[in-house]
Amino acid sequence: MKPQPHIKIEGTSKFQIGEIRNNTVHYDFEKIKTYLNIKGHILFGKNFKIYNEDEPLLFKLCNYFIQDHYSCAQMGIDTNKGLLLSGPVGCGKTSLMKLLLHLAPHKTNYELIPSRNIVFNFNAKGYAVFEKYNQTQNYCFDDLGVEPTGSHYAKECNVLGEILLSRYDLFMRSPERSQKVLTHITTNLNAQEIEKRYGNRVRSRMRTMFNLISFDENSIDKRK
Ligand SMILES: Nc1ncnc2c1ncn2[C@@H]1O[C@H](COP(=O)(O)OP(=O)(O)OP(=O)(O)O)[C@@H](O)[C@H]1O
Ligand SMILES: [Mg+2]
Repeated sequence: MKPQPHIKIEGTSKFQIGEIRNNTVHYDFEKIKTYLNIKGHILFGKNFKIYNEDEPLLFKLCNYFIQDHYSCAQMGIDTNKGLLLSGPVGCGKTSLMKLLLHLAPHKTNYELIPSRNIVFNFNAKGYAVFEKYNQTQNYCFDDLGVEPTGSHYAKECNVLGEILLSRYDLFMRSPERSQKVLTHITTNLNAQEIEKRYGNRVRSRMRTMFNLISFDENSIDKRK
């Protein structure tokens, strides 16, 4: 059977999120929203909904996930870089990065890992943990900035800082387009806080590696 990236199947329901014309999928944002609402319900429970105020941000993210190079360029988003999704506590960053993985997995894919877990792994296993992230697999480091400092046999290490530096090298070495090694991040920190925590070597590489996409600073905490 031909692949049908414009049709999503959930149980016995089918959702058409676009049309194929001339061998290209033309996505329809309204239909994507309908699908994401349903998928969000399945993943996160019945209270999930797409908030009106989040729609401009969601529109940007969807264009990135489907890798619509033209629309992204118009919005100042580079489809060859990763995403740094920032915003206040509980605004829905982690949920969106989990949800949108289902939109166009043939275009945008990564393993989402809580930054804290990486540090816990480092504390237990030491430097061997860095190997995993020095691979061409794409990653999303979730909740960057809340993880503790790493400590393996009393040796302290800024684990995520080190990993980000090596992810930068991988990014720079990899060829354009589909083979680019991408890193994504969700965080509550702003640029100054990132610099304070991870140093100016990390900060100065961030513009090259990431599209900075932010929730409004007044976004509500959806946990409440
Ligand atoms: N669109 C939504 N509709 C309803 N509930 C949502 C929505 N997005 C997230 N939530 C819920 O709000 C809570 C916080 O979401 P999430 O963890 O994605 O936020 P976050 O921005 O990653 O928070 P933090 O900054 O603490 O990491 C979760 O319980 C989640 O299920
Ligand atoms: Mg989060």
